[in-house]
Amino acid sequence: MDASDISGDLDHVLYTEREIHERLDELAAQIAVDYEGKDVLLVGVLKGAIMVMADLMRALPTSVPMDWMAVSSYGSGTKSSGVVRILKDLDTDIHDRHVLIVEDIIDSGLTLNWIRSNLLSRGPASLEICTLLRKPDAAKVTIECKYVGFDIPNEFVVGYGLDYDERYRNLRDIGTLAPHVYS
Ligand code: XMP
Ligand code: MG
Repeated sequence: MDASDISGDLDHVLYTEREIHERLDELAAQIAVDYEGKDVLLVGVLKGAIMVMADLMRALPTSVPMDWMAVSSYGSGTKSSGVVRILKDLDTDIHDRHVLIVEDIIDSGLTLNWIRSNLLSRGPASLEICTLLRKPDAAKVTIECKYVGFDIPNEFVVGYGLDYDERYRNLRDIGTLAPHVYS
């Protein structure tokens, strides 16, 4: 669906589908150069990263494998609990592999910080992070992130895989919700 289909639910659009694709193409070009000659494994974090993964991997000029992890850190609300639980682990043994985590958003950073330490303990050859969005003003921990699509203000956003209570993931664009949706 497009922003125009749910304009009553949205406050404003932050990035259009086209802007997102253009930025992901740029990141993919950079990733292709950095990993030239290396076999990189893309690790997505379900469910939010599905769109980023789909578009980023198609923008890469080489064939790349992917794997997925699912963790719980949020309930149905909009605040990170900091308590992370693995709901689905990787199918792949990442020991000695070059791993690139693909994320939708780094908010407080608590979730990704936990995932990062967990994956590092498995002895990958390298571990980097690619996130489409980052909220610098919301950071509770500092995470080194090699590829960042956009730094955004500290507002709750939906669309392009990102949800509010499991809805709005299929919005093509990224936007903020109108206040009446929360109440
Ligand atoms: P933290 O705070 O641990 O958050 O960095 C990690 C996960 O929480 C989700 N998240 C959001 N989802 N709009 C969303 O739809 C947001 O503004 C938002 N902020 C955080 C997301 O799944 C992220 O991986
Ligand atoms: Mg996520």
